[in-house]
Amino acid sequence: MKRVVSGVQPTGTVHLGNYLGAIKNWVSLQNSYETLFFIVDLHAITLPHDAQELSKATRSTAAIYLACGIDTTKASVFVQSHVRAHVELMWLLSSATPIGWLNKMIQFKEKSRKAGDENVGVALLTYPVLMASDILLYQADLVPVGNDQQQHLELTRELAERLNYLYGGRKWKKLGGRGGSIFKVPEALIPPVGARVMSLTDGLSKMSKSAPSDQSRINILDPKDVIVNKIKRCKTDSFPSLEFDNPERPECNNLLSIYQLITEKTKEEVAQECQDMNWGTFKGKLTDALINHLDPIQQRYQEITSDAAYLDGILSDGARKASEIADATVSNVYQAMGFLKR
Ligand code: TYM
Repeated sequence: MKRVVSGVQPTGTVHLGNYLGAIKNWVSLQNSYETLFFIVDLHAITLPHDAQELSKATRSTAAIYLACGIDTTKASVFVQSHVRAHVELMWLLSSATPIGWLNKMIQFKEKSRKAGDENVGVALLTYPVLMASDILLYQADLVPVGNDQQQHLELTRELAERLNYLYGGRKWKKLGGRGGSIFKVPEALIPPVGARVMSLTDGLSKMSKSAPSDQSRINILDPKDVIVNKIKRCKTDSFPSLEFDNPERPECNNLLSIYQLITEKTKEEVAQECQDMNWGTFKGKLTDALINHLDPIQQRYQEITSDAAYLDGILSDGARKASEIADATVSNVYQAMGFLKR
């Protein structure tokens, strides 16, 4: 069975972009693939972080995975730092990662510019190597992510090929490796709609956890009145009627796409349904659709978080299963790279 892995950082709160670009798709993938979903807490310390908040956000993100429909009878859910092999493989991969590849990463450039030199640790630069480790450890076939992760996925593929070239091949086969290569070269799975959900206050910027204004995003745990207020105040335009794909109307395209994904209608159905609506009518419909969709998720979240032992059990089970796969990969890589066997 093909294997799928993905994760979300426990920084801030999970928003509609994370949900529509990633988590919602994981829920359908768990039925047809072997799936592993982790909370990438080690990535969350690549910018200055609040130590008090990290463990809370990690638990909350795990509970959100489950509340959104990740079913742990099908998928393994675990915390990245609970599987030591992530950091271990990262070090091995770092040795073969050219610094030039990391300097080119758009997210590194953007985040380091915003954070300022004093706040940029080495880990922000090597962040994509840890992400490659997260993926290659599990010999993943597919990685469902939003399109802001595409460049990191390309780097992961290049690293897999580089390691396979440097340490795979004939020598590796003799040691009993699979198919003459150390790592499977994974593919990004980017959804056709929802891969880049835009801000509610600016249709040209991505919806993001780090945007200073909370008005710019819908958080999965936002109460009803907050959702009503955010949609009421979100940016629109003064064109008559509503339409997809008009480059002069990024907000309109974004809100229609959100509506399409949340209601699980086709683009044609939404275009037809909404074309003659004014903003007031459409905003009402969008608000209702969001509340109807998020309400059961929020109720499940309350149930899950009311039982700490249940969540702990899920996470420790997930880490145990993940460690079995991850440890085997790391020990193969040590062997292929010529380390003395323990
Ligand atoms: P993170 O935590 O920033 O985002 C989690 C997932 O949400 C997607 N996403 C979006 N999709 C659509 N529209 C948006 N506005 C939007 N904002 C975020 C992201 O693309 C991502 O899929 N580096 C990753 C986490 C990571 C990871 C991994 C992912 C670490 N290791 C291994 C996959 C596999 C990140 O920071 O995602």
